[in-house]
Amino acid sequence: MERSGLSELIPTQMKAVVVTDYGGLEKLEERKVHVPLPNENEVLVKIYACAVNNSDILMREGRYGTDANTGEKAGWKREPISFPRIPGTDVAGEIVAVGANIDPSCLGEKVVLFPFISSGPDGLEHMAEDITLMSSECDGGYAEYIAWPKELCRPIPLSSYVESSSFIVSCFTAWHMIEKSKVVPGEKLLISGATGGVGSYAIQIASKVFGANVIALARDLSFKEKMIELGASEVLSYKSKTLPDDVLMAAGSEIDVVLDVVGDPLFSTCLNVLRNGGRLAISGAVGGAVTQLDIRTIYLKHLSILGCTLGTRKEFDKMLAAIREGKIQPLIDKTFPLEKAREAQEYFKNSGKFGKVILQNENSTHL
Ligand SMILES: NC(=O)c1ccc[n+]([C@@H]2O[C@H](COP(=O)([O-])OP(=O)(O)OC[C@H]3O[C@@H](n4cnc5c(N)ncnc54)[C@H](OP(=O)(O)O)[C@@H]3O)[C@@H](O)[C@H]2O)c1
Repeated sequence: MERSGLSELIPTQMKAVVVTDYGGLEKLEERKVHVPLPNENEVLVKIYACAVNNSDILMREGRYGTDANTGEKAGWKREPISFPRIPGTDVAGEIVAVGANIDPSCLGEKVVLFPFISSGPDGLEHMAEDITLMSSECDGGYAEYIAWPKELCRPIPLSSYVESSSFIVSCFTAWHMIEKSKVVPGEKLLISGATGGVGSYAIQIASKVFGANVIALARDLSFKEKMIELGASEVLSYKSKTLPDDVLMAAGSEIDVVLDVVGDPLFSTCLNVLRNGGRLAISGAVGGAVTQLDIRTIYLKHLSILGCTLGTRKEFDKMLAAIREGKIQPLIDKTFPLEKAREAQEYFKNSGKFGKVILQNENSTHL
């Protein structure tokens, strides 16, 4: 689209917070940049809220490594990032302009954005080689506007932009882990990182959508009641010296499925509490990415280890439907104005939060 095709109400420049290079918080800078122009199949979305994720921070720190060298600095796709890059994968906003092929009747629609572009066929789109994730391979939501394919926009599931943005990558990942693990009603699940974005949504999806019995792991048991409200049947501290025994005692038997985002510190516990034939789904390693593994445990117990990243468009739509039905509640720990992105990322990294951290643009709490 030419700039002349945009309404005069849309400015030529916008506020954005960009990552200027790999490094610490000092590499996150507020800048004035051009408002992106939507291509023929895209829409321009005015961003009202964008949730913060570990991936925003890991991208800035270059912490994903490459396939050839896990110590090398790289983005989420394990390839070099092209800087400056606008982080943020969890966008909620309003369609304010359309590309040439898009029916303008969608102007004014309030949307959340499916966070990646891929040519993969339905069901395999999250595994495609050409995947482009917002915030890593293309610019994301720490800004006032974003251009995004119309076919990847969905109506916001709740009436608040902030709440709607809170689900996107965390809840979607949790949903995918549970579907990929083929959880069935009555199964016993252990969920780590249960106060975090992925874990807190996983508790709700596993218990309220899939009918599982959930044991949640948290450091601080002061959140126990809240987690039981979300659907956990038991909450245990991961700091316990007798954690595997605590889990087995609480479950009354071995565990069918573990959903883990923590990695090394809990890895042996995850394997030890699983029943023969159990499944371990992993989507993160917030506590440490390198671990020791006694391979015999895997084959002698017939375990399945399932690597999970993002999910499919169909899963995203099912997740949004469950949110609209009230089965999954938004969990917001704290909001920050966009300009405070550094503080928001610093806060996000602290232990002890419960739920999501959101960057908010002006007047965005409700429609
Ligand atoms: N593969 C994907 O598609 C995908 C998508 C989203 C996230 N992730 C990854 O999943 C992980 C979690 O993401 P998130 O957004 O849920 O993060 P988060 O909101 O920061 O939550 C992290 C959770 O992990 C717990 N935790 C941290 N260190 C721990 C340790 N040493 N032992 C036990 N628990 C520990 C925290 O508990 P306390 O606060 O009590 O310490 C908190 O509950 C990250 O590694 C992230 O990169 C992957």
